[in-house]
Amino acid sequence: MKAMQYSGYGDPSLLKMVEMETPRPAAGQILVKVHAAAVNPIDWKMHDGSLRYVLPVKFPSVPGFDVAGQVVEIGPGVDRFTIGDRIYACLSGRSGGACAEYAVVDAGVAALSPQQLDFFQAAAIPLAALTALQSLRDLGGLHADQRLLIVGGSGGVGHFAIQIGKAFGAHVTAVCSTRNADRVAALGSDQVIDYKKQSDFSSGEPYDVMLDCVVEKPYRAFQQAMSREAVYVAVLFPLRLLVQSVLLRLYSKQRIRFVICKANGDDLALISKLVSEGKLRPLIDRVYPLHELATAHRYSQSGRARGKIVIDVAGDA
Ligand SMILES: NC(=O)c1ccc[n+]([C@@H]2O[C@H](COP(=O)([O-])OP(=O)(O)OC[C@H]3O[C@@H](n4cnc5c(N)ncnc54)[C@H](OP(=O)(O)O)[C@@H]3O)[C@@H](O)[C@H]2O)c1
Repeated sequence: MKAMQYSGYGDPSLLKMVEMETPRPAAGQILVKVHAAAVNPIDWKMHDGSLRYVLPVKFPSVPGFDVAGQVVEIGPGVDRFTIGDRIYACLSGRSGGACAEYAVVDAGVAALSPQQLDFFQAAAIPLAALTALQSLRDLGGLHADQRLLIVGGSGGVGHFAIQIGKAFGAHVTAVCSTRNADRVAALGSDQVIDYKKQSDFSSGEPYDVMLDCVVEKPYRAFQQAMSREAVYVAVLFPLRLLVQSVLLRLYSKQRIRFVICKANGDDLALISKLVSEGKLRPLIDRVYPLHELATAHRYSQSGRARGKIVIDVAGDA
């Protein structure tokens, strides 16, 4: 099969199309003919070497965690899927494997793809939507009528967080730049704050939960705008914030928490339900053919993507 591969740590120019053996599913796994994959910042962050002491990569390595395709073979012990099923998943392996013609997927992390989505839309969802869901539900404890602030509302995680926040019945304020304000409002935000025009993100009533998808400003920049027992969830783990999360416990009921996305088929099934109910849809910024994966990674590195970057693995476009 064809796959895009990094031979070692470095920038996306190292990505090469290679021919490799098609994997076989082991017990508990399915083999999927990949139609589409999606890019997440973790794909290039893992491969540029900056995370090598935390998340080491075994080379050669096929990047990509988000996958959508059709089941072509079933390993022993799998009864949740049949051949021909259209599935999507966030792969649970250490460094991905989605950017290839076939991928083995642990059955426990896959879900049937919602019928109304094509493969590109399905691939756009898993890792970013799971991160948003797990941040708001498990770490933020978000519930109806709470006030939610999302910084980075136009990105992969943020645009799903807006929709999940609304589905939970929260009042959502999203922070984005001028050029993305209309899109972010169209996703359902009750209020949009343009970070190019306003540096203070308070908006009258205090926020109960905050999801920071950018993690650029120090926590104290938000503290006054948060309620007494508010939870701030961060997608990144800078040392200053880890220290602050410990210190905060000494004098405040506010909490700083950190999300680590977990591949999970049951959570993905919940996301499928939101899609079927018309409460969640992916925003696709660009679609690249598989051989242009390096360009897709560079675009993700720019930090300017709106919604998701998708890879057309099977040439469906
Ligand atoms: N811990 C985990 O499990 C986990 C999981 C997923 C992602 N992450 C991390 O979360 C971060 C976000 O991921 P993502 O997939 O959402 O990234 P992304 O899609 O690449 O985010 C790009 C978006 O961020 C916006 N943005 C950039 N600077 C901003 C600012 N100062 N204020 C508001 N918006 C800003 C950009 O809009 P403009 O161009 O308009 O500025 C753009 O739309 C990444 O660092 C990623 O590695 C962590």
